Amino acid sequence: MLYDVEIPLVSYVIKQAKQMENALRSLNYTQGAISTLIITIADIFSFIVPFLIGAILMFNGQIGAGTLVMIVQLSNDFINPITMIFDQINQIRSTKPIWGKIEKALHSKNTSPTSSFLSFNQLKIENLTYTVNDKSILNDVSFTLENNEKILLMAPSGFGKTTLLRLLVGQLTPNSGSIIIDEQHIEDNWNKVHEYFGYINQKPFIFDRSLLFNLTLGKKYSKDELMNAIQLAGLTELIDSKGFDYRVGQNGNNLSGGQIQRIEIARAILSKRPILLADEATSALDNKLSLQIHKTLLTNPNFAVIEVAHKISDQEKKLFDKIIDLSK
Ligand SMILES: Nc1ncnc2c1ncn2[C@@H]1O[C@H](COP(=O)(O)OP(=O)(O)O)[C@@H](O)[C@H]1O
Ligand SMILES: [Mg+2]
Repeated sequence: MLYDVEIPLVSYVIKQAKQMENALRSLNYTQGAISTLIITIADIFSFIVPFLIGAILMFNGQIGAGTLVMIVQLSNDFINPITMIFDQINQIRSTKPIWGKIEKALHSKNTSPTSSFLSFNQLKIENLTYTVNDKSILNDVSFTLENNEKILLMAPSGFGKTTLLRLLVGQLTPNSGSIIIDEQHIEDNWNKVHEYFGYINQKPFIFDRSLLFNLTLGKKYSKDELMNAIQLAGLTELIDSKGFDYRVGQNGNNLSGGQIQRIEIARAILSKRPILLADEATSALDNKLSLQIHKTLLTNPNFAVIEVAHKISDQEKKLFDKIIDLSK
């Protein structure tokens, strides 16, 4: 409202609304058409056919007029229940896909937290190439990451750093090249790879719920694990002063940028993934905070880190094992 953008916004949403209305209309139309078909067929078989047979039998003198009236009356009684049964089957069949989704959601299990870090020896990226609409974004990128190694990938804004991370976790499919973890090809296979990777977003998603929920994302961790992650992520002070039940507000409005970033790091530590991908994890923070967070991430012996960044201090650079300038 502040920027008077209701009209552009409405016109954007209207497309989806129209699609939904069309889908609803065709659902209703199909249901109606099938209903009519069922009534017609039921009419023919349970009324017109018995009536015709009865009439022929009566003209042949095999049954009397009274029996014909009885047949017609009886068959008439069958029409309604039969049409109702088929109508219900029609309804059930057309809502079955929706029901299937509800069933799936109801039965989705909360996976229990992993108790130890999955291990790997080497992540190998070979000749990775990614093109969108004939525009080459990544061209022939190759590097390796050893267990526990900390790598920094530098490149200017818009170079394709986020794209590279999204390729790694299987959200995007490379045009060519391979991503291999311990001889296992993982290109484009989110299910297969997702337990290897933790992801630290530049702008983490924060739920309008308690601090505890935002840390655990609803999973159950032991007190020790939780306190360990909180300490490693540098959140002890916040927890001590506000408590686990503190409401963080919509988009984490009651937290500072640094605290939000630390929550994201604690999530990654709790989930015990052996490779942490950090997408300009600290670019929104001041230098001191950024350095603190890097120390936390880059001195931890339990996981490897691939950080992508376009700007980072020399002091922080020293904490990495390897620095690769993608633009070169
Ligand atoms: N889905 C997409 N469709 C078209 N272009 C994209 C898409 N994703 C990224 N790009 C383009 O690819 C380039 C790299 O984007 P990105 O990986 O976000 O860069 P970085 O993270 O290094 O700033 C940019 O020019 C961006 O506009
Ligand atoms: Mg980016």
